[in-house]
Amino acid sequence: APVKVTKICCIGAGYVGGPTCAVIALKCPHIQVTIVDLNKARVDAWNSPDFKLPIYEPGLVEVVREARGRNLFFSTDVDKGIEEANLIFVSVNTPTKKSGVGAGFAADLNYVEAATRRIANVATSSKIVVEKSTVPCRTAESMRTILEANSKPGCRFDILSNPEFLAEGTAISDLFKPDRVLIGSLQTPGGRDACQSLAAVYANWVPKEQILTVGLWSSELSKLAANAMLAQRISSINALSAICEATGANIDEVANAIGYDSRIGPKFLKASVGFGGSCFQKDILNLVYLSESLHLPEVAAYWRQVVEMNEHQKRRFAKRVVDTMFSTITGKRIAVLGFAFKADTGDTRESAAITLIRDFQSEKAYVNVYDPQVEDEQIWQDLQEASPLVPLDQIKKQVTICPSAMEACMNAEAVVIATEWKEFLDIDWEQVYKRMNKPAFVFDGRLLIDAERLRKIGFQVTTIGRPN
Ligand code: NAD
Ligand code: UGA
Repeated sequence: APVKVTKICCIGAGYVGGPTCAVIALKCPHIQVTIVDLNKARVDAWNSPDFKLPIYEPGLVEVVREARGRNLFFSTDVDKGIEEANLIFVSVNTPTKKSGVGAGFAADLNYVEAATRRIANVATSSKIVVEKSTVPCRTAESMRTILEANSKPGCRFDILSNPEFLAEGTAISDLFKPDRVLIGSLQTPGGRDACQSLAAVYANWVPKEQILTVGLWSSELSKLAANAMLAQRISSINALSAICEATGANIDEVANAIGYDSRIGPKFLKASVGFGGSCFQKDILNLVYLSESLHLPEVAAYWRQVVEMNEHQKRRFAKRVVDTMFSTITGKRIAVLGFAFKADTGDTRESAAITLIRDFQSEKAYVNVYDPQVEDEQIWQDLQEASPLVPLDQIKKQVTICPSAMEACMNAEAVVIATEWKEFLDIDWEQVYKRMNKPAFVFDGRLLIDAERLRKIGFQVTTIGRPN
């Protein structure tokens, strides 16, 4: 019969583990939830008395404020967390491998394996182990083998796959009202019981019809498939944006027209300077690697093209900036508004802004950058990683981090909108115009601003998906 979940441990207090398990604690006051991580600074931030949490996510502070200390705890004591719980989420990072077999494509499963081995070593009672990280197909199988090979007598491990579909910036509302919760299990009596135990946790706030239960493989593949399909939509609209710029069609009008078809739907059709974030690229490359390992080269090439189109979009945008500014930006000052990979997050992983600024640097431009959420240290770290051969003090000579959009625009020749922060809608463009060198250029990489209004002020405006 299904075990009743009373104590949950989540290994990994990152963008997924933190918000997900905080919401479980909020919605299930009868369950004790402990989120553990090896990174002490991160755990300390989750525990900070003034709620200076390690990640910015609208609505998150309120959730943590209500549940922390009641039935939600953050700790570096991984072993104790494992020992006490009867259900354990593994929510550690699974970055793309940087070296070795599958470098550049395959997921690095080192962290998943370390967490799994820790569970096997520490556990003295039966556990349901839930793979929450996004992983290649069959990882649950490897976890099961490791756990079973190391289990103590009387200790039973059941493995579930429960991928997370939240998007950053809307994590809390996504978790409160998920489109679906997906749980994969072995199709054995034990597997189905474990599946029921986890489903009962979600059933505290998610309607039963939206809790889907499938096989382990389907669950793992569905996560990669969902991200691949979402990213493919953006690459498709971005490919069309290039045609718009060359022909005089307007990408917003095209997106609107096709989105009216109920089979296509209106969401996720916003042309942009390119998708970023820690997952789209990584998960597609994972799918490419899987396809190649299965001897399906055409399938691999198909998905690879989604990432290539994204790289093309970023390069194309940077080139359009240079072309429009009389084919040189050497010595010119460019204000880049936004550094996060999307609005309402402080996360910069794979952000298009990083690529843009690197390209502007190599054209010998000066860059002023402003983002309302990203820490200065993070910006320096990302720019250093993007140009490993350039010393940091050289980068700091070319790039200035500014405390406001207005200050970033001061004395610039061009403003580039890289992230769709709402506050950029309130910029006093008349004032900006007065303080910029002329002709004053604006490049909107996010279809955010009213181009006509800016043209009336005197700006030369270039927008993704529209001709100059
Ligand atoms: P993250 O890097 O923010 O967090 C992972 C945490 O795990 C880190 O704090 C790290 O210190 C910790 N960790 C690593 N190994 C550990 C170990 N052995 N013991 C204890 N702690 C350990 O990553 P994330 O963004 O939360 O992503 C986690 C997983 O979820 C990834 O597989 C990702 O693909 C997937 N995912 C992410 C998102 C997203 O929006 N970021 C959405 C859905 C799925
Ligand atoms: C994405 C998925 O939306 C989540 O369902 C998934 O759980 C998550 O990846 C994951 O596995 O990590 P996330 O990357 O946080 O979430 O944010 P998205 O809203 O998907 O945006 C990704 C990128 O695409 C951003 O750079 C965004 O600006 C860009 N985008 C999005 C567009 O350029 N156009 C759009 O229409 C939508």
